[in-house]
Amino acid sequence: MITFLNPKPQVGNRRSWVGKIFLTRQLAPIAKEMLEDHFEVSENKGEKLSENDLIQVVKDYDGVLCTLADVFNADLFKHASALKVISNYAIGLDNIDVAEAQARGIQVYNLPDIVTDSTADLTFAILLSLIRKIPAAREFVLKGQWQSYDPSIFWGEELAGKTFGIIGFGRTGKAVAKRAQAFGLEVIVYHRREIPYDDQEHYGVRQVSFDALLAQVDYLSLHVPLTDKTRFMIDKSAFKKMARAPVLINVSRGAVVHPEDLVDALKAGQVRGAALDVTFPEPISSHHALCQLENCLIVPHIGTATIDCRTLMAKKAAENLITAFSKAVV
Ligand code: GLV
Repeated sequence: MITFLNPKPQVGNRRSWVGKIFLTRQLAPIAKEMLEDHFEVSENKGEKLSENDLIQVVKDYDGVLCTLADVFNADLFKHASALKVISNYAIGLDNIDVAEAQARGIQVYNLPDIVTDSTADLTFAILLSLIRKIPAAREFVLKGQWQSYDPSIFWGEELAGKTFGIIGFGRTGKAVAKRAQAFGLEVIVYHRREIPYDDQEHYGVRQVSFDALLAQVDYLSLHVPLTDKTRFMIDKSAFKKMARAPVLINVSRGAVVHPEDLVDALKAGQVRGAALDVTFPEPISSHHALCQLENCLIVPHIGTATIDCRTLMAKKAAENLITAFSKAVV
């Protein structure tokens, strides 16, 4: 059940576009504060909404500020008698059937620009954490096992001079390329469209085919949206082409990688490690085979989880609703 906490009563003298907005999760307070200047606002202060709760929301509310965990599919839209605008608190839109929304005249907004740097930072945070064995080294200290300087423990690997492959050269792919340059990596890129030569030069990258990339990389980082074309694009046949047993880094969407094939590839040494911010399914059970493998590091979809980014996301997501409804009355 949704708890409708303190919905603001409608007061007189409001502009004609005042409507009802529902926030499916608690975000940085700025979002609610901004929205309350224009709308009657309710928010869910608990965990993720159930399907039934979401049905109630789309029946009763003009606008919704939702997260990537809320699935808006064609079945849900059948109940959307009141809904006019969805503001997604994410860059990815794979949780929303956008074509169906548009067919019903429901506007959909996402957050394309502001998640880039935090996500690119996390790409290297989890990669370095894995290859420098940070979680195990921390545990060693906390368990009181650090007796003296030991030249033989926690040998990891260095980045400089290795080949770093990026799949998807959008905003995040480019931000990751810049960081990779600073680490002294050679960067190659696979992208579905031709990257202008000037751009390749500017970012210090070389565009190659999918197969050539898989054959050359020491590290492989995924930065594509989840679509019918990218779903399970890293599967058994892709792992077979990875000649140098790379470390796989995924901060995009879990379903870009086939999970069972990844387990097999890690066990067979086709990849020597995986650093994952996203999984399929998500959340992943702690009993899943991937969680039992030492060369697999998983964090709970925290790519954008910085104070800077989450505050901006809340602000921009609220702004998108305000803009959408103000446009609707002019
Ligand atoms: C995070 O995964 C996002 O899509 O913003």
